[in-house]
Amino acid sequence: METLTPYFLAALAIPIGLWALRRRLALSGAKHPSLTGHPRIAQEIARHVPFYEYDETAFFRSDSAPEEVVRRRRAGFMRLSTLYTARFAETARLTREVFDDISDLQFTSAYQVPFQYRRLVSEHFSAGVFAAASAGTTLTDLDGNAAYDLAGSYGVNLFGYDFYKDCIRRGSERVASLGPVLGPYHPVIVHNVHRLRAISGLDEVSFHMSGTEAVMQAVRLARYHTGRRHLVRFCGAYHGWWGDVQPGVGNPLPAKDTLTLKDLDEATLRVLKHRRDIACVLINPLQALHPNAAAPSDSALIDSGRRAGFDKERYAEWLRQLRAVCIERGIVLIFDEIFVGFRLALGGAQEYFGVKADMVTYGKTLGGGLPVAVLCGRKDLMRRFRDDRPTDICFARGTFNSHPYVMGAMHEFLLHLERPETIALYANLEAVWNERARRLNEHLVAEGLPVRIVNLSSIWTVCYTTPSRYNWMLQYYLRAEGLALSWIGTGRLIFSLNYTEADFDAVMDRFVAAAREMRDDGWWWGSDSTTNRSIRRTVLHEIVAHRVRSALTRPARAGR
Ligand SMILES: Cc1ncc(COP(=O)(O)O)c(C=O)c1O
Repeated sequence: METLTPYFLAALAIPIGLWALRRRLALSGAKHPSLTGHPRIAQEIARHVPFYEYDETAFFRSDSAPEEVVRRRRAGFMRLSTLYTARFAETARLTREVFDDISDLQFTSAYQVPFQYRRLVSEHFSAGVFAAASAGTTLTDLDGNAAYDLAGSYGVNLFGYDFYKDCIRRGSERVASLGPVLGPYHPVIVHNVHRLRAISGLDEVSFHMSGTEAVMQAVRLARYHTGRRHLVRFCGAYHGWWGDVQPGVGNPLPAKDTLTLKDLDEATLRVLKHRRDIACVLINPLQALHPNAAAPSDSALIDSGRRAGFDKERYAEWLRQLRAVCIERGIVLIFDEIFVGFRLALGGAQEYFGVKADMVTYGKTLGGGLPVAVLCGRKDLMRRFRDDRPTDICFARGTFNSHPYVMGAMHEFLLHLERPETIALYANLEAVWNERARRLNEHLVAEGLPVRIVNLSSIWTVCYTTPSRYNWMLQYYLRAEGLALSWIGTGRLIFSLNYTEADFDAVMDRFVAAAREMRDDGWWWGSDSTTNRSIRRTVLHEIVAHRVRSALTRPARAGR
């Protein structure tokens, strides 16, 4: 008997080994070949990229441009710098005063352009971070400059700032007699819950203070009810900054239970079909605009490789396939509509793409200008305790959940969605924004400018058609023309729906003027041999050279 044991174990080990290998290979096949598809490797590589920067000489010729072009760039840069210094004097001064005291500010200002150019850009182009007023589609800074708002308060600003001011004022009046009491609910919640159930088509609602938190709760509940650990997210998708939904760069720890898979790919469906440890699939429908790529920040714009393209039917078909496999395998399908929620359709992405999820998160604009997020879900999935096992609970609370003032403002927001004029606005929303994007692209083509817009309704991204290392400069030319972007720059323009044709025409003229000026200043010069690949190779060589140099010169020390 004893002599048979090794044979028996080997006979057992071989099929188990083969099964594990097949599973591993299936998973590898479902990963996008880019670093975005390999968060752990990306994280490891990111740790080894050394800081280096271009001095004033290298800054203007990092693509080996001829002297005449370098001279034009330098002159344009200095002209813009003079304009910024004069125009944003007070806003920039106050920003400098608090800069060292606000960590968020230091972070966002460091990541607006590729790091090699960071110092000179921040020394010369500070428009500051303060604003004094908002009205219509514009923001006014402390120096009295009004700019069209293309940042959209990270997506919160859907109907225009005046609307949210009204929501907050009217909502506050509604709840004023209760005041900021937490624990007891204000009755406005009843209407809010009814409306959210109707919009989502789901049974129950929980309130949270941020999108990150609502997503966290969705995933936690999916794990609780399925008894499985893994969450699937798609390559490049943002779901807030909680560790499990942010594997890779940005998170100091690896997210062990997160599988980052390829969007719009059969191999992903195969993994979902065959594994038994997947609790949920998280979808951020914004990825339809740039599948398998991360949020396009200008700090990553080292060449013109930013890609985007929206194919509604293809993405809808993909969602239908995911829906089917999730039903088949008992996987919870979560739509994270924190960003796109009320932007695409009154019924959100579920209505827009015609696919139903098991859980949906909404946030941002839903709070009527105040911070909130909600999770809507199927009754069986939302329950936080078990009738048959009373001590097995899925805990979730939050001091400020269902704050009366937030509920009041949300109430106003939800009432607005029911008004006939709002319903009419949504009826041809997509056509309006597609036509505006088309018109701007037509102008850009007519002027021979190497810039194009790709849009998902009112969410736009700027792509670049000729290889260049300086595309990120466009954000500063746009600001000089009175167009205000968020800190991620031209990767994301977010319009509010109160933009009239006249407003939009003004934005279009300014956009084209900014791009024209940037071209005339020589930033888009390229030789015949300049390609995105050659640019990336140059940057890689620089990084390796700096890494080697710093390894040779650094005194030996413990740790990394
Ligand atoms: C799709 C999505 N999910 C979650 C979040 C996180 O929301 P919050 O910033 O409110 O935590 C965001 C924020 O941009 C988001 O776009």
